[in-house]
Amino acid sequence: MSKNSWSFETKQIHAGQEVDPTTGARALPIYSTTSYAFRDTDHAAALFGLAEAGNIYTRIMNPTQAVVEERIAALEGGVGALLVGSGQAAETLAILNLAGSGDHLVSSPSLYGGTYNLFHYTLPKLGIEVTFVDDPDDLDQWRRAVRPNTKAFFGETISNPKNDILDLEGVSTVAHEAGIPLIVDNTVPTPLPRAAAGVGRRHRRALGDEVPRWPRHRGRWGDRGRRDVRMGRQPGPVPRVQHP
Ligand SMILES: Cc1ncc(COP(=O)(O)O)c(C=O)c1O
Repeated sequence: MSKNSWSFETKQIHAGQEVDPTTGARALPIYSTTSYAFRDTDHAAALFGLAEAGNIYTRIMNPTQAVVEERIAALEGGVGALLVGSGQAAETLAILNLAGSGDHLVSSPSLYGGTYNLFHYTLPKLGIEVTFVDDPDDLDQWRRAVRPNTKAFFGETISNPKNDILDLEGVSTVAHEAGIPLIVDNTVPTPLPRAAAGVGRRHRRALGDEVPRWPRHRGRWGDRGRRDVRMGRQPGPVPRVQHP
């Protein structure tokens, strides 16, 4: 059976992992290495020159994390994912990837306190201005807030602590009209799109048909502590999750 036709349940267990060809070990090995051996200097030069794909240094890539990244990307129908150490790191990287000094973001006001502080105090110090819409359900407010230098919209799928639900379909439609991505902090609904999709019809439609470009997930991975994922998601329809 091709990997593309795997069910959601199969992807949860197997996506992104090749069984170790030498040992046949089923469990994902934890590679706690910081660095990697190179075959010779030419190999090292090719890796560092990005002429050849391979492990260079664990801050940039790690085979254990790569499996988690690929698995979540597979579950979400995304093109890729990046695992980082905290939610704030995921948000900051997602934003700095898109915006710099002189740029502007539009955000829902229903935010986790740390994110509000990042947007209200820290990003302005870097020259990035954030406009908070008053009512995130009023799509005209998002539309009116867009400027020529607006680089992204931001919202939490289910906000902390208010627990209101972002109109993913509506807000992403306005974002796409403006030619910019919607960054989504998906902390509350669990890491899995099945759970997020189960939140409500609006979410299901949005996850199936719309383009939240940078979903973020947070969750516990066994007893190894918390990891956060920043994801890039490909525009266009993705396969719908079947619900019983
Ligand atoms: C919705 C939301 N986003 C972001 C964060 C920040 O996550 P972290 O504490 O991992 O940086 C939190 C933390 O609770 C959160 O609830």
